[in-house]
Amino acid sequence: MNYARVSGTGSYLPSGVLTNADLEKMIDTSDEWIFERTGIRQRHMAAPGETTSDLALHASRRALDAAGLQASELDMILVATTTPDQIFPSTACLLQAKLEVGGCPALDIQAVCSGFVYAVGIADQFIRGGQCRHVLVVGAETLSRITDYTDRGNCILWGDGAGAVILSRSDEPGVISTHLHADGAHRSLLEVPAGPSRNDVTDDKIRMEGRAVFKVAVNTLDQIVDETLKHNGIGKGDIDWLVPHQANIRIIQATAKKLAMSMDRVVVTIETHGNTSAASIPLALDVGVRDGRIKPGELILTEAFGGGFTWGANLIRM
Ligand code: ACO
Repeated sequence: MNYARVSGTGSYLPSGVLTNADLEKMIDTSDEWIFERTGIRQRHMAAPGETTSDLALHASRRALDAAGLQASELDMILVATTTPDQIFPSTACLLQAKLEVGGCPALDIQAVCSGFVYAVGIADQFIRGGQCRHVLVVGAETLSRITDYTDRGNCILWGDGAGAVILSRSDEPGVISTHLHADGAHRSLLEVPAGPSRNDVTDDKIRMEGRAVFKVAVNTLDQIVDETLKHNGIGKGDIDWLVPHQANIRIIQATAKKLAMSMDRVVVTIETHGNTSAASIPLALDVGVRDGRIKPGELILTEAFGGGFTWGANLIRM
């Protein structure tokens, strides 16, 4: 039996930082309001000219080093992003060129904040099916490029960054299960309206009904946790680490409560990373692995909710 096992993780944050104090100078807000409502103190910002594929490249190299692999050994490159460098080629193809490897399939996954969870599920299928031995799965975003810094209702959330994992074929699990869902009926609650096909619309910034999204996110994440536990016949106490999408500390706390997990079993990076959409889970995973909290053999649960709406979870034995 083939399983997909995490053989390396890596991440990268651009050096620029936007603090709550900086935002206080730009909009009518306060550090206290932002921290209380979101858990965020600062977020990283890509430099002018620094693109999503640049961030992805740094994270990918670190993941390859951790796995002890050369880029030439990759059988597939998946990049989860909602902020591609350009309309095409895909960010995955641009990353492939920067890694100086040609030939293996490379594609982007667009599921907004759930993109990494989706990409892990897709990579797992290719490894289980025997087509791939090593798959690079990246979540990378430059959300600052699609943020309206006059809209205090959501500009306080978003940050830039990238995280990567290498999933490699193994006899031992690995990715145990992936649970993916979407409901396209709620576009008006969370969207970037402009796009190449809707060329009568010029608004290319994030628009969000924060309070409504918050409620749906909490309920939906409750359900995905139940679904994952039930599918695998495991109890709440079996999970060693929750590695959630870092959308809002209150959403993370609600999921931890649902799992009866204390917050010291949850990898939380939102305070310094902000919400980096598809990058947030692999960023948090890399932080937890590199600081020694997440150890080989431990059971982790990832979960995400995002624009679409999309949502999902991966149960992974490290
Ligand atoms: N500073 C100060 N006051 C503010 C700010 C701000 N930055 N933003 C809004 N307010 C005010 C509002 O005007 C409102 O004032 P009023 O009561 O006088 O009308 C009050 O604060 C409360 O506003 P809400 O929008 O209800 O605030 P809420 O507690 O919901 O927090 C937030 C807003 C942080 C955006 C929250 O709703 C949230 O995190 N939502 C979910 C985000 C999310 O998970 N998105 C999905 C994943 S991301 C993705 O897919 C791309």
